[in-house]
Formats: sequence, C-alpha cells, structure tokens
Amino acid sequence: MSSLRPIALVTGASAGIGVALARVFARHGHALAIVARREERLRELADEIAASGAARPLVIAADLARPDCARAIGEAMAAAGVEPQYVINNAGFGLVGTAASRDRNEQLEMIDLNVRALTDLSLAFVDSLARHRGGVLNVGSVAGFLPGPGMAVYYATKAYVLSFSEALHSELKPRGVRVTVLCPGPVPSEFAERAGIKSGGLAPGMLTRSAEQVAEEGYRGLMQGRRVVVPGWPNKVVSLLVRFVPHSVLLRAVDRRQARRRAAQAA
Ligand SMILES: NC(=O)c1ccc[n+]([C@@H]2O[C@H](COP(=O)([O-])OP(=O)(O)OC[C@H]3O[C@@H](n4cnc5c(N)ncnc54)[C@H](OP(=O)(O)O)[C@@H]3O)[C@@H](O)[C@H]2O)c1
Repeated sequence: MSSLRPIALVTGASAGIGVALARVFARHGHALAIVARREERLRELADEIAASGAARPLVIAADLARPDCARAIGEAMAAAGVEPQYVINNAGFGLVGTAASRDRNEQLEMIDLNVRALTDLSLAFVDSLARHRGGVLNVGSVAGFLPGPGMAVYYATKAYVLSFSEALHSELKPRGVRVTVLCPGPVPSEFAERAGIKSGGLAPGMLTRSAEQVAEEGYRGLMQGRRVVVPGWPNKVVSLLVRFVPHSVLLRAVDRRQARRRAAQAA
C-alpha cells in the first residue's frame, strides 16, 4: 500500500494536444503532473487549472530527450507525494524532408523523444498504474499506419508507438492496466512549424480535428479500455483502407504528396 496520491502525468503539456489533454483530465477530476521544457507555459496552464477550482498541477520542467528523464520525473513526483495513476505520453515532434537531407542528430533526438522517452515512461510506473487501476495513453498518429517517404523517421517512430502500445495493451491487461494508443490525423498546433511545414501545408481539411476533439476522444477511449483510438471518421477510413493497399502503392502516394509539399514550400 502506497501513501502517495494518484495523479495523471501528461507530457508535452506546454502546447497543442498536450494542453487539451491536461484540461480534459483536470475537468474529469484527475490531479495532474505536467511536463515539458517551457516551464513558463506549464505554470500558466497550472494557474488556469487551479483557477477553475481543480487541484493545482505539479509542474515538472524537463527535457524528455535526455536519457535520465523517467528517473528525474519519478523523483520530482515522489518529492511532491504523488505517483502516476495515468501516464499520457504526448510529447513528440516531426521533421519534413528526406531522411538523408535532414540533420542526423535532430532525427536521432526525435527517436529519443517519440520512442525512447515514451517507452521509458510507459514502463517506469507500471506498479503504481496497477495499484491505482489506471493506464497509459500514448499519442501516436495516423502516420503510424503508413510508410512515410519525405518524413521517414517521424512515420517510423509513430509505427513504433502503435506497435508497442498495442502489444503493451495485451501484456498489461491481466494486471488491470489499460493501454490506449491515440492516432490523430492533422491537428492545428505548433507541430507544423516545428516540423518545418509552412502554414496550410499540413493536410486536407476533411482529416483535420481540433486538439480539444482529439483529447476528448483519447480520454474517452482510455477510460473505456480501447486499444486504438483514431479521431474522426475520415481518419478511421484512412487507417482501415491502408490495410488493403499494397505498400508499393502507398509508398508512391505518400512520396508524391510529400514531394508536392516540398515543391509548394520551395515556390
Ligand atoms: N499536430 C498534428 O498534426 C499531430 C498529428 C498526429 C499526431 N501528433 C502527435 O501529437 C503529439 C503532440 O503534438 P502537438 O501537435 O500538440 O505538437 P506541439 O504543439 O508542437 O506540442 C509538442 C509538445 O511536446 C513538447 N516537447 C517537444 N520536445 C520536448 C522535449 N524534448 N522534452 C519535453 N517536451 C517536449 C513541447 O513542449 P516544449 O517545447 O515546451 O518542451 C510541446 O508541449 C506529438 O506526439 C505528435 O507527434 C500531432
């Protein structure tokens, strides 16, 4: 029996989908710990949540691309007398451009964040997740269902998130721990700018959902114990159709789309 209070740990809560996820969890009565590098942004969100009458989130400023991030976050939570009931691995970024033309270190940093930190935080607190009958919500992407020439490393990291989370869903079920992978299509956020995508170049509007819609669907899916959540029916159709299309065809289609985007950006 632990005397530590249960919280929901949300990574990448200084922008975009992470802010929306933190708000949704707070609205549903969960105490929070919020993580990102930009501490000022986290403090503003903590103030806003506290002003709504919810418990003030614990702010943890951390660079999740560092190898010791799970240990540092665990220590910060223990010092505050809390432990995770839910881990929401949302922090992540992408980069457009062919893999051979992009900076290798930046792409490796993407793997450190999107894959390594997500794996570490998914596994580091399993005992406490089981004690509180909680779970893990990992933010993947529709990109995880496809090969991604023109954004190769990003798509590959999201394929990992999908595969790992589905397997973990099955492994942790007997312990009463839910694992859900949330696979959004395009969402207006700081993602595009960080990735090097000029405005308007993210994807067709029909596939686009707001961060709030995505966060709400992710929360509901996790609480229902669903394995995979794809927000919005057009994205669901994409994620189902790609199973029946030969990879050679998908590769050409994604390649052409990314090439068009590069040409539009260069113009
Ligand atoms: N937007 C989309 O179209 C879209 C579509 C599908 C999936 N996704 C996924 O959704 C997740 C959230 O993306 P978003 O759209 O909300 O992007 P965003 O607006 O750029 O937010 C990214 C968040 O990740 C945090 N982060 C980045 N690097 C970090 C690091 N080294 N250490 C700690 N935190 C870090 C950022 O905080 P700091 O910069 O303050 O550290 C920020 O809070 C990502 O996993 C992304 O791949 C996004």
